[in-house]
Amino acid sequence: MLTRLKLTAIRDQLDTLLDQAARADMTLREALQLLCAAEVAHQNERRIQMGMSIAKFPCVSTLEGFEFEAQPSIDPKQVRGLSTSRWVANGDTVLLLGPPGVGKTHLAVALGREAILRGYSTLFASATSIVTQLVWAHAEGRLEEKLTQLGKPKLLVIDELSYLPLEANAAHLFFQLVSRRYERGATLLTSNRSVAQWGGVFGDAVVATAILDRLLHHSHVITIRGDSYRLKARRKSGLVRDTTALAAAT
Ligand SMILES: Nc1ncnc2c1ncn2[C@@H]1O[C@H](COP(=O)(O)OP(=O)(O)OP(=O)(O)O)[C@@H](O)[C@H]1O
Ligand SMILES: [Mg+2]
Repeated sequence: MLTRLKLTAIRDQLDTLLDQAARADMTLREALQLLCAAEVAHQNERRIQMGMSIAKFPCVSTLEGFEFEAQPSIDPKQVRGLSTSRWVANGDTVLLLGPPGVGKTHLAVALGREAILRGYSTLFASATSIVTQLVWAHAEGRLEEKLTQLGKPKLLVIDELSYLPLEANAAHLFFQLVSRRYERGATLLTSNRSVAQWGGVFGDAVVATAILDRLLHHSHVITIRGDSYRLKARRKSGLVRDTTALAAAT
């Protein structure tokens, strides 16, 4: 019966749990609570594991693993506030802006993980992959299907927007995605360009304004300044003395 009811944690731990209840001289009510708690814990764990694998994060980065002292331009309080995922519940946008290596992807993954821990479905993808998916779907007459698919996760993390300028068609497809998710799902975007430079990224100023208008409506912007953490780590290890040395070497 436990198998049929899909109460697999109770099924697998039945003997141990019943022994535990007997040893502690539990009432029926207390024993039932013990069994249910074991099942709930197990289902939660499975839900989180499943959520993490569906999200397709490129790495395991956590907020605990982020050194705030290394990046003084970030306000830890702002990040802690975002870690509660209220912004995800509200369908807001988070923009993480800054030069290469300052921790944008790290924080994007970490905030995505926090959202999953709190029960929000999350999908991580690079901007290039999202744009390619949209262009292909459009060419194959399956754009609506793709927009529905990308519209579903409660949080969509779009990493590395603006490394390449988009073609007009691609920018327009991206606009349709932003518009589909607007006020329904939350979006986290990372970019190495400031918002003022996004006109160039989307090619067309009108499309860029329409995209930004929606993205910035309910938004939290974190602008990171400072040195690349990658270079700092290498400098510490003595591989490079400073950025100039690295530039000269490459
Ligand atoms: N403050 C930090 N504390 C701990 N690790 C950090 C910190 N900042 C960056 N890192 C680490 O440095 C590496 C580079 O960071 P990350 O990939 O997040 O940079 P990025 O801003 O996304 O850069 P890019 O624009 O090149 O994609 C990662 O391994 C990340 O975990
Ligand atoms: Mg990155």
